[in-house]
Amino acid sequence: MCFLSVFFLVALLALAAALPHPSPLSIALRKRSTLTVDGVVDLSAVRSHMAHTQTKFLRGAAAFERNTGRSWSRSKSTVRRATGSDPLTDDSNDRWYGTITVGTPAVEYKVDFDTGSADLFLPASNCGSTCEGHTLYNPNISSSAVDLHQMFELTYGDGSTVLGEQYTDTVGIAGFTAKNQTLGAASQYSTGFQASNFAPDGLMGMAFEDISVFTANSVMQTLVAEKTLSEAMFAFKLASSGSELRIGGVNSALYTGSITYTPVTEQGFWLINGDAISANGKEAFTNFPAIVDTGTTLILGDESTVGQFYNALNATDIGGGFYTFPCNSMPSVSITISGRVFALSAETFNLGSYDSSGESCVGAIAATGSLGGNSLLDTWILGDTFLRNVYSVFDIGQLRVGFADLA
Ligand SMILES: *[C@@H]1O[C@H](CO)[C@@H](O)[C@H](O)[C@H]1NC(C)=O
Ligand SMILES: *[C@@H]1O[C@H](CO)[C@@H](O)[C@H](O)[C@H]1NC(C)=O
Ligand SMILES: *[C@@H]1O[C@H](CO)[C@@H](O)[C@H](O)[C@H]1NC(C)=O
Repeated sequence: MCFLSVFFLVALLALAAALPHPSPLSIALRKRSTLTVDGVVDLSAVRSHMAHTQTKFLRGAAAFERNTGRSWSRSKSTVRRATGSDPLTDDSNDRWYGTITVGTPAVEYKVDFDTGSADLFLPASNCGSTCEGHTLYNPNISSSAVDLHQMFELTYGDGSTVLGEQYTDTVGIAGFTAKNQTLGAASQYSTGFQASNFAPDGLMGMAFEDISVFTANSVMQTLVAEKTLSEAMFAFKLASSGSELRIGGVNSALYTGSITYTPVTEQGFWLINGDAISANGKEAFTNFPAIVDTGTTLILGDESTVGQFYNALNATDIGGGFYTFPCNSMPSVSITISGRVFALSAETFNLGSYDSSGESCVGAIAATGSLGGNSLLDTWILGDTFLRNVYSVFDIGQLRVGFADLA
């Protein structure tokens, strides 16, 4: 599996090198996938990713409460730190990443673009073995770095932490420059971010300061505040090829028809309201809050509504929030947002086969409730399983999210 990942990474890098350079407003994205091995779902890797994701949302919700003084209204229960019931040592998962520059002189780093969090952090030059294999940020040799003399600490689902010191520095992305951006310089990396598990160097959150652990604007908000963008938005194409992040507008070559927008219902995460999720043409349930997150692989929902969805389909509950179907009769699944129906392709809804017999396939909509006993999320998470089917637009200026059909 390790060999395979490395092989794919090398193949991807070779492929990316052969591609024409993207326009300066866009960043080409790469992806590393480790959730299936020869088409069979690696459930422990998937569960590990879910635990990681859930911890991220718990942290965001806790930061929201601290930063705004308001309770996270979507929560069914008190916000707690996810501990995860599985002994997790690994966080192999799928991430979309590309390149930014930080500091003066500018140094390039690969970062995971994550709309489900708000903070930027990089492995720092004073990080020891846990950051080995990554490009390290050295604020001591960046003339634009300012030490904020503030520590930060982010705990992940495997129980390990990313911790370090906060700085402000100059961040370049797709030809734009954020001059006074708060970022974390990590002197310790958690297992999940170590080079063997995590291809990018760091992570760039793209949500709002309301959920920032640093209590700081995200890079995108800084670009907007410093008035560098013609339009206060960014947009993603996340697909098996030609993926890109567009900054300061949309790339009209990458979608067809109109963009359907839906308002952000509460600034913090990219939280919207979905109309319905349907299976085989029937609505399984309606009217649900959902966070749009490029940093989550699957579509995640709470136990009871996910159960409701799969019961209507006679799916088999295999535990841990997952369900299977006969591979030869996968249901057609769609999500309705702002009155518009977006179909999930069979390729995105089918996570892979359950075992090597290839008879049962695992659905890419999963329940979070059973993980670590936390039920924070009656909010759904629309991750890659959904986002790979659409062109997605994150409009900071008008606080809305838009979706269109891919070109
Ligand atoms: C910056 O330099 C100081 C003094 O040498 C050192 O203690 C610190 O660890 C360095 N910071 C980083 C992030 O390398
Ligand atoms: C840069 O950001 C820091 C932290 O948010 C803030 O304290 C400082 O005033 C800002 N500096 C400028 C020049 O805007
Ligand atoms: C589910 O099973 C029931 C009982 O066997 C059957 O009546 C129904 O048509 C099945 N539904 C689907 C979607 O397969």
